[in-house]
Parts: sequence; C-alpha cells; structure tokens
Amino acid sequence: ASRGTIAADLLAWYDTHARALPWRVRPGGNAADPYRVWLSEVMLQQTTVAAVIPYFAAFTARWPTVADLAAAPEEDVMAAWAGLGYYSRARKLVECARAVAAMGGFPGTEAELRALPGLGPYTAAAVAAIAFGQRAVVVDANVERVVARLFAIDDPLPGGRAAIRAATDAITPDARCGDFAQGVMDLGASICRARDAQCLICPLSAHCAARVAGDPLTYPVKPAK
Ligand code: ADE
Repeated sequence: ASRGTIAADLLAWYDTHARALPWRVRPGGNAADPYRVWLSEVMLQQTTVAAVIPYFAAFTARWPTVADLAAAPEEDVMAAWAGLGYYSRARKLVECARAVAAMGGFPGTEAELRALPGLGPYTAAAVAAIAFGQRAVVVDANVERVVARLFAIDDPLPGGRAAIRAATDAITPDARCGDFAQGVMDLGASICRARDAQCLICPLSAHCAARVAGDPLTYPVKPAK
C-alpha cells in the first residue's frame, strides 16, 4: 500500500464515481472558479450537500462573481442565507468577499487564503487544492474517518487528529490534489460511512488496515467520556 497506489486507486475511482456537484469541474478538466469553490466550501461547513445545492444556485445566479457579492448590502446576503444556519458564516462571507475584491481576486496560496476572514485551516486548504491545484492537506470529518480506517489509527480524537493529518499528508499526491481531496470526501460520504463501511465496494479496500482487522466501524476512535 504505497503512497502512489492509494492516490492512484482513489483517483481512478473518482474519475468514474465523482458526484456531479455544481461547483465542480470534471475531474482532470480546467481548474474550478475560486469564488464558486470558496462559496461552496463555506456553505458546506455544518450543512449537507443536498441542503447547500439550492442556496449555491441562488447565490451564484444573483452574485455571479466575488465583486458582485462584495458590492451587495450585508442585509441582502443575510436574507439570502436564511435557512442555512450559523449566521456568523454569512457575515464573514461578506467581509471576506470585500477583502478579496479589494485585493483584485482570490490569492492562490494556502497561507494567503488562511489569512482571509472566515477561512479556517480546512477551507484554506480546500480552496488552495481544488481551485488552484496546490498541494494542500485537506482534512474534514469524512477524510478523518477514511484515513483513520486506512491506517487503523487508534489514538482517540481529538489528539488523534495529529496522526490522521500526518497520514493524510503522506498519501496526498502532488498532482490532482483537489480531485484527490474531493475523492476522499466523496468516498467518506458514499461508501466509507460512519455506521456502514461497505468494504466490498470500496476502491481502497486492498490498502485498508481496518478492513484487514475486520473492525472499520471502530474508527475514528471517539474520546473517552
Ligand atoms: N464536503 C465539503 N466540501 C466538499 C467537496 N468539495 N466535495 C465533496 N464533499 C465536500
């Protein structure tokens, strides 16, 4: 289970099984629009893909570019956000759009993205990888579960996140980093699920330590209560 084969197997699966989501380009196609990637990633924090899709469509129809969003009155954006929840995200969204518009566009590195209002480590890495093709280590809850199972990482969360992050870094390829990140997220959302690992149809089963041990559902290990 070398680094090359995990990424290659995952990318081959993503090429045929990627979810068709409105903020994605086709795998291997042109780089995605940073505005659409950023907007979708902010909306997807604490909200499901199914719930986000109609909001994403409404926002991008009304404000097609980051400059359009930057020029919008904050109360219009707040009203359009109604129903998505976690309203501090919407306020930060406007703040970030204004900062980006003032810079003339999104910066292209993870470190610069991380400095923008509302962009935490996950969102900065996701935008760097998906929109700019940079090699960044993208870890959300789905990635955490997939990687904890692949390597049978048994340090309980939250401390176990350091080992999970290091293992994710070790399998992240230099090329197609954004497709790789989205592929691991899709695998976690559709196959390697929290209460149902579906190892029989998993493209990474040959590499998976938890599958060999027969106990994938025990990962990631929850903190002791
Ligand atoms: N969850 C959050 N961002 C995602 C993405 N880009 N692809 C799939 N699932 C996601």
